[in-house]
Amino acid sequence: MSKGRIFSGMQPSGKFHLGNYLGALENWVKLQNEYECFFSIVDWHALTSAYEDTSKLSENIHNMALDWLSAGLDPEKNVIFIQSHVKEHAELHLLLSMITPLSWLERVPTYKDKILQLGSQGKDINTYGFLGYPELMTADIILYKADTVPVGEDQIPHLELSREILRRFNNIYKPVFPEPKAYLGKASVLPGIDGRKMSKSYGNEIPFAASPDELRARVRMMVTDPQRIKKSDLGNPDVCTVYAFHKIFTTKETGEIATNCRNANIGCVDCKKCLAEKMVESLADIHARRSDLEANPTRVKEILVYGAERARKVAAATMEEVREVMNLSYGRI
Ligand code: AMP
Ligand code: TRP
Repeated sequence: MSKGRIFSGMQPSGKFHLGNYLGALENWVKLQNEYECFFSIVDWHALTSAYEDTSKLSENIHNMALDWLSAGLDPEKNVIFIQSHVKEHAELHLLLSMITPLSWLERVPTYKDKILQLGSQGKDINTYGFLGYPELMTADIILYKADTVPVGEDQIPHLELSREILRRFNNIYKPVFPEPKAYLGKASVLPGIDGRKMSKSYGNEIPFAASPDELRARVRMMVTDPQRIKKSDLGNPDVCTVYAFHKIFTTKETGEIATNCRNANIGCVDCKKCLAEKMVESLADIHARRSDLEANPTRVKEILVYGAERARKVAAATMEEVREVMNLSYGRI
C-alpha cells in the first residue's frame, strides 16, 4: 500500500556523480516501492542559473535520464518526465508569482549568496527567473499535491517557502493544496578522490556514468593517509579516503582491511585495486542497464514521453481546480 505521494526533481546540469547517487538517487530507488512517485528532470530550473549557454542541455537531459534509469528507477512504477514537457508547471508558476510578496523571495538565504558566487565567475543571475526559482519549485510539488519531498538539507529553506506560498493560496482562494514535508534520507557525505566532499565544483568527483576502467583510474588517484609514505609505514585508515569508500563498498571485510592497513600488511596500491574491483562488482547491474539504454536512445525518449503524458493528466486536473477557485474558468470548454 502506498504511504503517500512523492515529488522530487534534479537539475540536468551534467556531471552526475557517485555522491549524488549515494546521497539522493539511491534513496529514490528505495522510495519507489513505498510511495507513488513523480520524478522530474527540471530543465527550466537549470535555466535559472545557466541560461546563456544551453548547448549541452539536451545531452545533459538525456544523460540524467540514463543515470536515473540505470540506477533502477522503474518507469512503470514511477512517473518520470521532463519538467518543460508539462506546460502546467509554467502556468502555475505564473499564477503563484501573482500572490507571492517580493520580500519572501528576496529573503531566501541562498538567494544573494548565489548571485555573488556566480557573479564572481562572470555569470549574471540578477534575473527575474532566478528570483522566481522557489516559485517554480513550489509549482512542481503542488501540481501533483505531493505530501512528501525527498531533498538534500540545502533545499529545506526552499520547501519552507513553498509551504508559505501554498498557504497563502489556500487562504486567499480555497484550500486546494496539501502541505508537503521534506524527507531527508541518510545524511552521509561521500568524499571525492581528494578527500573533500565530492562535488562537481572541486573536480574531485567519480562520475556515476564512469565505466569500470574509468572507475579503476579514479580510485588509483585517491588520496590515502598522508603520513604513510612507504609500504612498510603503519597506516591510519581513519584518515584515508580509500578506506572511507571501503566502508561503503566492501561491507563485510572492512575490519580486516583496517587491521591490515594499521599493521602495514597491505600496501595502498593493492588496497586500491581491491576497492576498485568491489566497486565495479557492486555497480555491475547499473553499468549493464546503462549499456542497454545507451544502445537504445529511442527507448529513453519514449519513456520520457510516456512519463510526461501521465504527469500531464494529474497536472491538468489540478489546474482545473486552480482556475476554478481563481475564477479563471469563464468560457473554457
Ligand atoms: P548537487 O548536485 O550538489 O545540487 O546535489 C544534488 C543532490 O546530491 C543533493 O540531494 C545532495 O545532498 C546530494 N549530494 C551531492 N554531493 C554529495 C556528496 N558528496 N555526498 C552525498 N550526497 C551528495
Ligand atoms: N531545487 C532542487 C535542487 O536544486 C531541484 C528541484 C526542482 C526540486 N523542483 C523540485 C526538488 C521540487 C524537490 C522538489 O536540487
